[in-house]
Parts: sequence; C-alpha cells; structure tokens
Amino acid sequence: MESEVEGLAAETFSSMKGMKRTGLFVTGTDTGVGKTLITAGLAYALRARGIDVGVMKPVETGCHERNGRLHPVDALMLREAAGSRDALDLINPYRFCEPLAPMVAAERSRRSIDVERLLERFRRLADRHTVMLVEGAGGILVPITDKLSFLDLAVRLQLPVLIVIGSRLGALNHARLTVELARATRVPIAGAIVNRTTAERSLAATTNLSALRRLLPIPIHGEIPYLETIRGRALWCSPVLRRILASYVDELFSEPMRR
Ligand SMILES: Nc1ncnc2c1ncn2[C@@H]1O[C@H](COP(=O)(O)OP(=O)(O)OP(=O)(O)O)[C@@H](O)[C@H]1O
Ligand SMILES: [Mg+2]
Repeated sequence: MESEVEGLAAETFSSMKGMKRTGLFVTGTDTGVGKTLITAGLAYALRARGIDVGVMKPVETGCHERNGRLHPVDALMLREAAGSRDALDLINPYRFCEPLAPMVAAERSRRSIDVERLLERFRRLADRHTVMLVEGAGGILVPITDKLSFLDLAVRLQLPVLIVIGSRLGALNHARLTVELARATRVPIAGAIVNRTTAERSLAATTNLSALRRLLPIPIHGEIPYLETIRGRALWCSPVLRRILASYVDELFSEPMRR
C-alpha cells in the first residue's frame, strides 16, 4: 500500500516507532454500534501512513461454523484491514458460537476464559507491532468472566479507551454511563466517535452530536455518516471513512489522554 506519511502524523508516529504498548482499546455504547467498522477503518488509515498495526479481538461470540470451524468475522475483518499476518488464534484466542456475552457463552459451552492467556497473546502481538488496536465485544461492562469486564481488560492491557457511540435514541444515556464509568476507574480515555449506523435521519441522530459535545467531558473527534456500500468493496475501506478517520489520528494518539 502507498505510504502517505505527512505533517504532524509523521512526527507522531516516528516518535512512536520505538515505543511499545501504543494503541487503543475500542469499546462502544452497545453491541452493533460500529466498533469493528471503526477499528478496521483506523487500522487501514494507519497502515496507509506506513504504520505497522496489530489487531486483537480477544473474545468473539456469535460465530458461525464454516468447514467444521468457528468463523470469527470481526477478527478476520480486523486482520485483513490491518494487513496482518498474525495467526488467527493470537488475534482471537477465544470464540464461541452462541451470540451472548462471553461469560455466558463460555459457561454454556463448558469452557473458561483465562485472562492470563489474553494478556500473554496481547503482549506477543504488542511486541511485534507499533500500534495495537483491540476491540471489545458489546459495551464496556460486558462480562468476560464473573470477575472481569471489558473495562477491566482495558485496564490490564494499559490501553486508553476509545468509545464508539451509536447515534440513536438512547445514545446520550449510554454514552454518559460509559464515560462516567471509565472516568471512575481512571482509565485514560482517548475520546469518542459518534457513528450513524443507519440511513434513517431520526431527530435523535441529527441532534446527538451537538448534545454529546455539550455533555461529555472528553474529546469527541467527530461523526461518521451512514456509509453507502460500494459493490465489491468492504465498508472499512470506504474512502469517506478513511479520510475522516485519518483526520482523527493525530488527536487519537496524542498525549495526554483525558482521565
Ligand atoms: N457508518 C456506518 N455506515 C453504514 N453501515 C454501518 C456504519 N457503522 C456500522 N455499520 C454497519 O452496522 C453493522 C454493525 O457494525 P459493527 O459490526 O462494526 O458493530 P460492532 O459494534 O462491532 O458490533 P459487535 O458488538 O457485534 O462487535 C455492520 O453491518 C456495519 O457494517
Ligand atoms: Mg464488532
């Protein structure tokens, strides 16, 4: 892929090259709000600037079976967008077929999720890449086990949290809850991105961005419009998405992160 290292971004990332543990933990206000699309789009935008990106989807549920194996669509999409050659079992150590929170899906399939295994896989990936992007599942308090939520995992991975806000009715409440909780744990917050997941121009969707800017004490980088699918192209490589996300990159990776 063509390298587009330029301006401030070039400076930011040349200083990042020697650093470890640079990255983001991408969470959201709910399931289906666009975490995978935005994580994949960010991976693609970073890669277009010549940055080596590693990705991780620590636990994926709701995986369908293909040729006798579970097919983790989010993990595969992230790997493709990042241009990663890492083994799928490293990127996605746990996958389950039932579309449930990891704790419940694991219990129902009589398996347990070992946090040390997640941390070890993450360290291996982080040692290989300049930037790590890790996608949670559902929202920030979704249980991985009865003792570990995705927020706890972000803390253990020492990654700042990026919050994807699905722009729908209810988003103000969900976004405030997510931000309040993250602030209470003092995890660094890299900000939020508002995402329009449907073409519908509801009153809530058209007023959410400005209301969120007034209410949330964190940077709101902007809003992703509803993206039209181009036949034969994955949505994450949409030029519109890439242009918008590329413009957020400097803010997203700048210090200090808000607490
Ligand atoms: N801005 C957008 N324009 C068009 N479609 C979108 C947009 N954002 C998300 N979508 C679509 O909405 C669906 C849900 O998005 P996505 O899979 O990224 O959500 P998620 O938050 O990762 O969900 P999960 O909790 O299951 O991981 C996908 O089909 C995605 O392509
Ligand atoms: Mg996802």
